[in-house]
Amino acid sequence: MSLFRTKSVEQSIADTDEPEFRLKKSLSALDLTVFGVGVVIGAGIFTLTGRAAHDVAGPAVVISFIVAAIACGLAAMCYAEFASTVPVSGSAYTFSYASLGELFAWIIGWDLILEMFLGASVVAQGWSAYLSAFLQQLGVALPAAISSGGVVDVPAILLVLLLGGLMTVGIKESLRVNLVLVAVKLFIVLFVIIAGIMFISPANYNPFVPPSAPTESTSGLTQPLLQFLSGLEPATFGVGGILAGAALVFFAYIGFDVVATTAEETKNPQRDLPIGIIASLVICTILYCAVALVVTGMVPYDQLNPKAALAEAFAFHGQTWMATIIAAGAVAGLTTVVLTLLIGATRIIFAMSRDRLLPGALAKVHPRFRTPWVISIIVTVIVAIVAGLTPVGILEEMVNIGTLSAFVLVSVGVVVLRRQRPDLKRGFRVPFSPVLPIVSAAICAYLMLNLSVETWLRFLVWLALGFAIYFAYSRRHARVGMQDFMPRVVSPPKD
Ligand code: ALA
Repeated sequence: MSLFRTKSVEQSIADTDEPEFRLKKSLSALDLTVFGVGVVIGAGIFTLTGRAAHDVAGPAVVISFIVAAIACGLAAMCYAEFASTVPVSGSAYTFSYASLGELFAWIIGWDLILEMFLGASVVAQGWSAYLSAFLQQLGVALPAAISSGGVVDVPAILLVLLLGGLMTVGIKESLRVNLVLVAVKLFIVLFVIIAGIMFISPANYNPFVPPSAPTESTSGLTQPLLQFLSGLEPATFGVGGILAGAALVFFAYIGFDVVATTAEETKNPQRDLPIGIIASLVICTILYCAVALVVTGMVPYDQLNPKAALAEAFAFHGQTWMATIIAAGAVAGLTTVVLTLLIGATRIIFAMSRDRLLPGALAKVHPRFRTPWVISIIVTVIVAIVAGLTPVGILEEMVNIGTLSAFVLVSVGVVVLRRQRPDLKRGFRVPFSPVLPIVSAAICAYLMLNLSVETWLRFLVWLALGFAIYFAYSRRHARVGMQDFMPRVVSPPKD
């Protein structure tokens, strides 16, 4: 039994046709774009813009956003190529199973579970914090012990249970709620941009790239791995600051890859997945750059509040009421992030259980709702417990490392699958392959090196746990392994 056995693309597609595992195909390119924007615009834009401008990049934070967008754009193209070739639930996990082999597929699936479980829990806690801020501005105070930062974060638990229930009942229904909330969120982001333009003073853009300066070095476990390995003294601002800013604001882009998890529920995946993935990234990039330009134009970068830059920039100009609007936008915005990450987590586990890398009984699809209801309930309960009872909010960087590692392997996987299966029909092709996929993998690996030593150590523990489960259970139960002994009829690939 090889660790690198692959599951053929044809087999992956044939599995989606088995009645007990068949999901409802109802999504269009527009649904996917809304889904993508829903998951991408979240805590990142509300909090990281100010922090990156104030701490490391100055007004050039807009360039940081562009650099991060280029990194994500390259990875997005790789995702789009895969998703249009292997339109099967499971996103990067399924892609790696077809190209790099089972062990890599398992690692990626395990990393995506980390990204989405932790992401949903972290953002649910952020949501609860913004809800408290919003209610406080309206003069309502929640009891400290049962709200954000208290003993039990009840609002976070209720949010997860509500959204989990919604996704169990139906994907289309979930996306309808998503649409309304995404509209509110977009309206508020646009409102911030338009309202802010009036307060821009061009002098604040000068210097646009503040000169590089040495900084008090972070040390020990909180320093970036790159710094730990190379012994370099960290500097802020200048070109280095722009790149450090890019690693920081990367979080704001996380999520477009979740679009690929809904491949099996898309009516015309070959055409619609690339549109959904790339369109949501383009929309978010434009909005992010506009917000970054407005905020750094409103207030000198060294006077930005790194914790709540958007609200404070308006308070700086006497517009305190904007804080309420911004908090409302964040509450609407973060709701859709949690919903989409919950859906993503269930679809990854669904694909892994259908392949028997996790127990197959989990993957049962509900006869009426046509959603993987067992997994949906398990994911909801776990995320609700983690978000409600643990201090998971500090683990944002773990979400980044889970995502970036998936990006690296997907980029490499594109090159591998082109070599192994040049014959497959690809709805979308990354231009200049293999150069762009390799550049994509390199940039993502570089961003990973900028994450802290502590994050790497936690990530290694997570991987060790994953390996233990793989060797104790998954490897022996994998359906691909069984097929070595029991050949199955393979249906021809569908166009
Ligand atoms: N991109 C998502 C956010 O910024 C994770 O909240």
